[in-house]
This record gives sequence, C-alpha cells and structure tokens, in this order.
Amino acid sequence: MSTWTGKKVAVLYGGRSSEREVSLKTGAACADALRQKGHDVVLVDVDLEVAARLRAERVEVAFVALHGRWGEDGSIQGLLESMAIPYTGSGVLASAMGMDKTVSKAIFRSLGLAVADYRVFPRAAAGSIGVGDLPFGLPCVVKPAGEGSSVGVHLVNDAAELGPACRDAASYAGDVIVERYVKGTEVDVAVLDGKALGAIEIVPANAFYDYAAKYTAGTTKYFYPARIPEAHVRAVMDAAEAAHRGIGCSGVTRVDFIVAGDGTPYILEVNTLPGMTATSLVPKIAAGLGLSFPDLCDRILDGAALKS
Ligand SMILES: Nc1ncnc2c1ncn2[C@@H]1O[C@H](COP(=O)(O)OP(=O)(O)O)[C@@H](O)[C@H]1O
Ligand SMILES: [Mg+2]
Repeated sequence: MSTWTGKKVAVLYGGRSSEREVSLKTGAACADALRQKGHDVVLVDVDLEVAARLRAERVEVAFVALHGRWGEDGSIQGLLESMAIPYTGSGVLASAMGMDKTVSKAIFRSLGLAVADYRVFPRAAAGSIGVGDLPFGLPCVVKPAGEGSSVGVHLVNDAAELGPACRDAASYAGDVIVERYVKGTEVDVAVLDGKALGAIEIVPANAFYDYAAKYTAGTTKYFYPARIPEAHVRAVMDAAEAAHRGIGCSGVTRVDFIVAGDGTPYILEVNTLPGMTATSLVPKIAAGLGLSFPDLCDRILDGAALKS
C-alpha cells in the first residue's frame, strides 16, 4: 500500500508547450500504470482553468507528467505549492534551473562537472552571430536555452548554416546557446531519489538525437547497459548524481551526457520531467533493474510532497 492509496490522484498532462504531444503520451501511460497499482486517478489536461479544475475534482496529490514550458519550468509547481497540493518531481527552483540551460550549465561548471565549451547570446543578438564569435569553431551545436525534446537544436557543420540555425533557435524560449560539438557516445542516466539507476546508450541513425529520432520508432538504437567501459559508466553515474543534487532535484530525473573517448562525461542537461511512456528511456533503465513501469510510477508518486 502506498501513502496515496485511496486519495484522489491527478495526473497533469498535455499543457501548452511545444512538447504537448509527448506529454499526452507520458500522462496516459502513467495514469494507466497508477490505476494498475490501485490508485484513484483523474487525468487533467492542463489549460488556463487548471486551478479551478483541481479544486472541482478535489485533487489531493498531483503526478506531474508535463514537459517543457509551464510544466517542467517551475510554473505548475508554483501553482501546486500555492494551492497546497503535494506533487511529484522537483520543486519550483530546481525545475526552473533545470529547464534553463544557461542557468544549469553555470551550475554544472560550478560543481566541477565537464561542460563543453559554449557561448550564450541573447535572442535579440542571434541574427549577427558569426563563426568569429565561437572560439571553438565548427562543428558546433546551436540550441535554445529553454526548450526540450531537441526542439530548435541544430548541428552546424559549415559557416553558411550558422545564421539560419541561430535564427531558428531564437524563435524559442530563452537565450541562444552555441556549444562545441562533442564527439563521443551519447549516454543518459536515470536518477531516482538521488541514486543513479543506470546508464543507457543512444545511437541515433542520423548525426544527432533530434526530435524525429526521439519519437519515431525504429530510428534510434538503444543499448542498456551502455557499451562503455565500467569505469566510464561509474564516472557518468557519479556525474549524474552530482548534477541531480546540485540542481536540487527530487523524484526521478534523466541526466544527458556525451561520453568522450577518454571517458570524460560531458553533461548536456538535467531533465526534471523525463519522458515516461512504457518505452521511454527512464522506464527502460528501471526495467533493467527489475523495476516494472507501474512500480516505477508508484515509487515516483510515493515521493510526492510540497517542496518550497
Ligand atoms: N555539444 C553537443 N555535442 C554533440 N551533440 C550534442 C551537443 N549538444 C546537443 N547535442 C545533441 O542534441 C541533442 C539535444 O540536445 P540537448 O542539449 O539534450 O537538448 P534538449 O533539451 O532539446 O534535449 C542531444 O541529445 C545530442 O544528440
Ligand atoms: Mg536532451
């Protein structure tokens, strides 16, 4: 029996971000899993009337299954704190810091984690970024500071592609970040309640793990456990725990890395609300430990609390 058995659980999903479609899948899967565990679940698509809906449904605890802006960035967490409704995952500040790559990169650096060399440009300056502004040269990766799911992320191989990539990134939330392209193995680590569960290797069919690669079945290969030396696995798991702790996260996170040939784990980001369909990466890693998807969702729900 979990703490929340017999209580009214709202799975918050959908929302207005560019990752709405992904969240609809995450939310539906988590709601199913929680029902299998015997919970009384209502699915709430988060719109401008969400506060009234939570009250009308007499919601006692919220399972946050949103991605992107307003769901992953501290906004909904602030609303839930204000309404005194305990919720899963990270609190207001950790969510906001995790969502903003300008802020999270600065914290990663201060923690002594390996961060690929990068430059930050305000959106208004994006039109005039040139290769001369990039001490690390090309290839580079251009991304908006405030999105997820690879939305607005571009791999730039030659100078002519830089302008269009920066202008596109500037059409999304946050600063424009340009960083050195890191060659290596893409490895994501699931962290639950502060402990790294495992590391999964991602091999996209194309140059990088873009939106299509993330959500089109069959375009990406996954290897669990990651096919890197044991010492490199240990290093990337340690770095993931340090990042989770350093940002102040709660519940489950997925910390993304590129592990260079020498084993240096270059951190890309902390996802405070990772994808949670039955075939997403965190559930894949949990399954490798014998933790089923319903049990994982139940564990996450168990951690629901007010955090501010
Ligand atoms: N510096 C980099 N070097 C190489 N590939 C990168 C780099 N930054 C991002 N990528 C690729 O782009 C993908 C998305 O970047 P990421 O920073 O994780 O943003 P998002 O929040 O959109 O997932 C990564 O999964 C990786 O494949
Ligand atoms: Mg990512």
